[in-house]
Amino acid sequence: MQAYRASLLRFDEAGQPVFDEDGLLVVGADAAGRQRVVDAGAHGAVAARHPGLAVTHWPGRIIAPGFVDMHIHFPQTDIIGAPSEGLLPWLENYTFPAESRFAEPGHAAEVAEVFLDELMRNGVTTALTFATSHPQSVQAFFETAQRRGLRMITGKVLQDRHSPDGVRDQTEQSLIDTEALIRRWHNVDRLGYAITPRFAPTSTDAQLRGAGELAAKYPDTWIHSHVAENKDEVKWARELFPAARSYLDVYTGFGLMRERAVYAHCIHFDDADRRLMRETGTAAAVSPTSNLFLGSGFFDFEGANRIGCAYGLASDVGGGTSFSPFSTMLAAYYVGREGQTKPGLSIAPSQLWWRHTGGAARALGLDGVIGNLQPGCEADFLVLNPEATPLLARKTARANSLEELLFSMIVLGDDRLVERTVISQAQAA
Ligand code: GUN
Ligand code: ZN
Repeated sequence: MQAYRASLLRFDEAGQPVFDEDGLLVVGADAAGRQRVVDAGAHGAVAARHPGLAVTHWPGRIIAPGFVDMHIHFPQTDIIGAPSEGLLPWLENYTFPAESRFAEPGHAAEVAEVFLDELMRNGVTTALTFATSHPQSVQAFFETAQRRGLRMITGKVLQDRHSPDGVRDQTEQSLIDTEALIRRWHNVDRLGYAITPRFAPTSTDAQLRGAGELAAKYPDTWIHSHVAENKDEVKWARELFPAARSYLDVYTGFGLMRERAVYAHCIHFDDADRRLMRETGTAAAVSPTSNLFLGSGFFDFEGANRIGCAYGLASDVGGGTSFSPFSTMLAAYYVGREGQTKPGLSIAPSQLWWRHTGGAARALGLDGVIGNLQPGCEADFLVLNPEATPLLARKTARANSLEELLFSMIVLGDDRLVERTVISQAQAA
C-alpha cells in the first residue's frame, strides 16, 4: 500500500464535493493486482487507521480524480481548429479526408500515441473515443491503450452510405468486423468496446438494425453516436427517416437506446426527446467547445436537469478546440449562461467539475469505478499545482471557499495545472 498526502477532492453519492484541506489518499492492489483507493479523507483520521504506512507528501498540491471525456475522436487529433461553415461541410472537407488515412495501421498507431500523450498531459484518464471505419484503427488504439494500462473505450465507426470512398464501409462486413472486435477487446484489461454508428444519416437501415442486434447480444458494451447537433443535420435526418417522431427517435426504432448508450450533442431536443433519454437510461455527452466552434447551438442544461437526463462533459476534439477539461468546463459554463435561445443558468464550479469526473463516469455506467476517489475506485488521479502560473497562484491564494478555488482553476487553468497524472497500473503477478 502507498499513501499520498495533499489537499484531496472527492465527490459524495449526490455529486457534491468533499474536500480535505489536509487529506490522505491510501492506494493498494486488489486481488487482480490493480491499484484501487483503499481509504481517503482527512489526514489525521486516515493516517491513524494505517499506522506505519510510507507517505508521499505533496505540500500545496491538490489530489483530484482523473477527468473523464465522454466523447472525443482520436483520429481527429490533427484537424483541431479546422474552420468551416458548419458541421456538414466540416465533415466533408476536413474530417473524412483525415479519417481515410487511418486505413494505414502505422498512421493509426502514431496518432493513438500522440492522442494518449495529450490526454495524460491534460489529466484525462478515461475517454470514450470514436475510431474510424477501419478496423485497424481500433486495433491500433486498443493496443496502445493496453500497453499504458488505461481505461479506454472505442469502436469501429459504422458508415455505409452518404460517405466518400476511403471511409465508407460495407454493411455486412462492418457488422462482422464489429463483432470480431467486441470478442477480441471488450473487457480485456481495462478496455471497453463501443458499437459506433457515426450518426443516422450515414448508415442504412440494415446497418443500424445490425448495430442494434449486436447491442442486444452484448448488453454491457457501449453504444456511441451523435444526435441533434446542427440544424442542417437535423433536417437531413428527418428527411431520411420520415416515420420517426424525431431525430433521436430514429435510434429507438433500431434498439440503439439503452443504458451505456451515449449520444454526443443532444442540442435540438424537445422534452419528449429528453424523457426518452431518461426512460431508456441513455446519456448525453455535452461538447461545448465543439458546439461553439462549429456554431451548432447551446445545450439546454436546465431542460436536462428538469427532466433528469444523464449527461456529462466531453471535448469532441477535433470539432472541439481543446483537450483540456478546464477549457471544456469553462465553455460549459458559458453555454449554461446563454439565455437567448433557452433558460440561462449559472452552473456551480463543483458541478462543472463533477460532470467531467464522477458524473461522467456515472453517465457511462462506471460509477464507483473511475471519476472519483472513494474507497474501491480505481486509482487514476491527478496532482494539481494551483500555483502553476503567477496569476493562478495569486487567485487561488485569495479563494474564500471551495467553489472560488475550483472556479479559479476552471477559468485560468490549462495543462500546466496538471503536474502529474497517476494511472492505476496492474502489477505483474
Ligand atoms: N456527426 C457525425 N460525425 C461527426 C463528427 O465527426 N464530429 C461531430 N462533431 N459531429 C459529427
Ligand atoms: Zn463527435
